[in-house]
Amino acid sequence: MNTDEFRKNGYAFVDWAADYLEEIEKYPVKARVKPGDIKSQIPGSPPEKGEKMEEIFGDFKEIIIPGMTHWQHPGWFAYFPANNSPESILAELLTAGMGAQCMVWATSPAATELEEVVTEWLKQMLHLPEDWAGVIQDTASTATLCALLTAREWKSNFQVNEKGMEGKFVIYVSQEAHSSAEKGGKIAGFGRGNIRYIETDEKFAMKPEELERAIIEDQEKGMRPTAVVATLGTTSSGAFDPLDELGRICKKHSVWLHVDAAYAGPAAMLEEKRHLFRGLENVDSFVFNPHKWLLTNFDCSVYYVKNPELLTRTMSIDPEYLKTAHDQEVKNFRDWGVPLGRRFRALKLWFVLRSYGTEGLQEFLREHIRLGEFFKNLVLEDPDFELMAPAELGLVCFRYNSGDIKGENLDNFNRQLMEGINSRGEVFLTHTVLGEKFVLRMAIGQRTTREEHVRKAWEIIKEETRNLKDK
Ligand SMILES: Cc1ncc(COP(=O)(O)O)c(C=O)c1O
Repeated sequence: MNTDEFRKNGYAFVDWAADYLEEIEKYPVKARVKPGDIKSQIPGSPPEKGEKMEEIFGDFKEIIIPGMTHWQHPGWFAYFPANNSPESILAELLTAGMGAQCMVWATSPAATELEEVVTEWLKQMLHLPEDWAGVIQDTASTATLCALLTAREWKSNFQVNEKGMEGKFVIYVSQEAHSSAEKGGKIAGFGRGNIRYIETDEKFAMKPEELERAIIEDQEKGMRPTAVVATLGTTSSGAFDPLDELGRICKKHSVWLHVDAAYAGPAAMLEEKRHLFRGLENVDSFVFNPHKWLLTNFDCSVYYVKNPELLTRTMSIDPEYLKTAHDQEVKNFRDWGVPLGRRFRALKLWFVLRSYGTEGLQEFLREHIRLGEFFKNLVLEDPDFELMAPAELGLVCFRYNSGDIKGENLDNFNRQLMEGINSRGEVFLTHTVLGEKFVLRMAIGQRTTREEHVRKAWEIIKEETRNLKDK
């Protein structure tokens, strides 16, 4: 493709993306295809000769788009949001245009230094401890893996990196922790049998007394309590583990404290929610995802550590071919995570932070929290529905329960209700299980969601409930 064709196609693609975002409500939120539908429309062998961009783009619209689930749809209430923004999309375009691989300072000094700046800005915006140092990772899963690897090295005096796992290192998570903690624990060599799932209270938050009991029990058995993964904003219900108390316990028993705030992290920008983050001063590492609830295209996860030297000592490999003249003066982020190669993720974050400013972002977050409160009240005021967990932010867990259906049948009713709601294509919400009960999750956090969409979702929920009862 020559420059003129690139320009022409580029303009057309930006037009397409602008129209897509403007008209997104015309699509069903969730893809309506069966397994194999997309593959069956694409040749199984690669083309011998290059094809024209018009044909490729045509197939993108005809074949790919019908197989996409539309995460930017205002009726998106599933999982957690992964919102983008025009500003972030444009920065991604520039990033792709430059195609830089930013593994060390020298391979793009601006990428490294901008990463230092935006992680510092975010630290200030979220009121995180001043002495923390930040780095951008692809996902929270990777950041949690880094935390567990660092905790393992710190606890073993860097001997596991030298000799492999010897001794019984144990990690602790709540029963409500995200699966990435277990995955990280397995990859880091702790072994599933050495992951303790600590009981939660009626708000689905980790019980500190149970944590301490488990740590002491392990110590008595000659095990080595190594790390706690606490969650601020659990995936199922948005619960906040009591960081203050967990920090005190970790300090007392010399255990690493990692915080997974993948979804809820941005709420630390809000004065009225800051009490949920109390206790950060005793935290060793912390991750949150601007790619969830901070207008930044997937992927972009910000990871902070109290002591970067422990992280770089864990990760650093120093082959001759990667050495540069500036290694003593600069940060080489290749030593701050698992992959060597790194995308220039700081650019989109910079565009977002500058375009919205702290106040713009606070307003954006507060509106979702207000809508969460609005939806929570609809549930509370309706005798046929019940709230299943405290809703601190935009995530509301609820279910139908008017007392006429019991036990397993009630779970089945709610499952069918969810299927009915989602089959309409106007909204998409997902489920979880809380206290062995099937629960619907209404996760409000999409950039384009307004009150009318939340009202509409509630109408659909009520209508589908009636339909199901009339069956
Ligand atoms: C609390 C929590 N932690 C971690 C993750 C995993 O995030 P990522 O996809 O960035 O690894 C999620 C995903 O929803 C989450 O809710």
